[in-house]
Amino acid sequence: MDNALLSRLGIDHPIIQAPMAGSTTPAMAAAASNAGALGSLALGASNAKQAADILAQMHKLTKRPFSANFFCHSPAQLDPGKDAAWIKHLQPFLDEFGATISPPLKEIYQSFVADTEMQNLLLQNPPAAISFHFGLPAPAVISGFKNQGVFLMATATSIDEAREIEAAGIDAIVAQGIEAGGHRGTFDGRADTEIGTFSLVRLLASNTKLPIIAAGGIMDGQGIAAALQLGAQAVQMGTAFLLATESNANDAYRAMLKSDRASATRITAAISGRRARGIVNRFISEIDTPAAPPIPAYPVAYDAGKQLHAHASAQGSHEFGAHWAGQGARLIRDGYSVSELIAAFMAEFNASTN
Ligand SMILES: Cc1cc2nc3c(=O)[nH]c(=O)nc-3n(C[C@H](O)[C@H](O)[C@H](O)COP(=O)(O)O)c2cc1C
Repeated sequence: MDNALLSRLGIDHPIIQAPMAGSTTPAMAAAASNAGALGSLALGASNAKQAADILAQMHKLTKRPFSANFFCHSPAQLDPGKDAAWIKHLQPFLDEFGATISPPLKEIYQSFVADTEMQNLLLQNPPAAISFHFGLPAPAVISGFKNQGVFLMATATSIDEAREIEAAGIDAIVAQGIEAGGHRGTFDGRADTEIGTFSLVRLLASNTKLPIIAAGGIMDGQGIAAALQLGAQAVQMGTAFLLATESNANDAYRAMLKSDRASATRITAAISGRRARGIVNRFISEIDTPAAPPIPAYPVAYDAGKQLHAHASAQGSHEFGAHWAGQGARLIRDGYSVSELIAAFMAEFNASTN
């Protein structure tokens, strides 16, 4: 298997293990890179010191190319009135665990666009590739990485975002369809076009000149073959890796992914403040209701959501976690390491393309 994207990245297989904040580990990303795919570190929720530690671990685990991923949303505007109304909305659920949340809610991690310490860390010792989600950094930051020879990728959920990514000088587009697990990469202030992966890959392949990486609902080699047939040069798979031995998903999340409940996923902004797809739990079905007040900004709402989840899980309820998963979740495989998963995907891919 070879194409211009794989040659430029120096990888053997058309597979990018998706960055998944909270679930990706250096062991997962290194195993993906060592198996000939592109491993991705999810550094969007880390500060510069944590990122430096993770990057140091990664360099010990692999000499192959890997990617580091960052969130490029507008920094949160704090709004005490909005936060208070949101905490009041959560109170009946907190009451179940005898808990309260004290204001103020916090911006629990910084956007890459405002984190100059992080930018400098990456500029000093850049990985082979960097990917951006929720938007793009400033032109000077993009040109700084390009001058260092870093391969840059960014998520698009619409033609407009893809055109912006191309105009900014990014090297490849992650076409994230509505099926995808986790946060929608939709840029700030844009309505979510909710286009599926099948249509989005075709739309972006015919509206931009950049290589397209298909993301959303791809769970096996047949899905990879279909995405490449549509015009993608690689795929980015997230949910498919969540049960891998190297994944950080905890027991409750793993149990949910293996259960019938994985058949029902929904998009909600109530957990974090940005739209994201996860397995329907009580947070989604009972808190994200038409009667809910406006949700605080990302990741301020996540501060409240994580506090509620911490209280609930300490008392044995796992109904308030962020169980991110894509629409293909029921196809997830259990009992595999990352390298075994990649071998299985490539065997299926080869069988379906020969
Ligand atoms: C648990 C989870 C966490 C995710 N976290 C991130 C992240 O930190 N950065 C990012 O760019 N994408 C993130 N995503 C989205 C993935 O990059 C990708 O778009 C998605 O996994 C593709 O859909 P799939 O899950 O159906 O394979 C996440 C996805 C999941 C399932």
